[in-house]
Amino acid sequence: MALLPFLLSLGLSLATAQQFDPYAVVRSHYDMDKVLGAWYPMAMASSNLSRIQHKGDMHAILKTIERLENGSLTFSFDFLLQGQCETAVMVCKQTQRSGMCTIEYDGKSTVLILETDYKIYIILYLHNIKDTTETRVLALYGTVLTPRVYSPHPHTPAINNTPP
Ligand SMILES: *[C@@H]1O[C@H](CO)[C@@H](O)[C@H](O)[C@H]1NC(C)=O
Ligand SMILES: *[C@@H]1O[C@H](CO)[C@@H](O)[C@H](O)[C@H]1NC(C)=O
Repeated sequence: MALLPFLLSLGLSLATAQQFDPYAVVRSHYDMDKVLGAWYPMAMASSNLSRIQHKGDMHAILKTIERLENGSLTFSFDFLLQGQCETAVMVCKQTQRSGMCTIEYDGKSTVLILETDYKIYIILYLHNIKDTTETRVLALYGTVLTPRVYSPHPHTPAINNTPP
């Protein structure tokens, strides 16, 4: 997927001060306990930019991934609701596939980890179906808060409406 190198170069240039180890990159069989904790937005792309831009209904920023006592994963998102920043905690229901879970909110979303090194970055792919509309979002998150505060703008690249 051609967008991945783009997202990575955008985001990982920020991380070169840290030790990036290409051999640590994982693309399947994830250890989900290693993705728990705080994540910070670095770059985002979507098949429908108006939904992830400011005031878009999918303008949400992942903050943390946590595990409940019963084993289920939760994702905390910050989003704007009537001009107010709200945090919503959503259970992401595990599926058969490693790194894939589903969220029932505003339609149905499938969240898939595309790759991570657990230490510096994670790339998430989100597929939302609301009524009959499908939207795909690709997001790069890092473990450190970068000075480049994320804000989707008209120059954000569009992605094709095809699954990875
Ligand atoms: C993109 O999202 C906007 C806002 O939800 C919607 O009005 C529009 O129809 C969508 N475009 C496509 C191509 O799905
Ligand atoms: C765990 O608890 C949450 C919150 O009560 C619930 O939504 C979820 O379905 C539960 N998971 C399992 C596997 O029972």
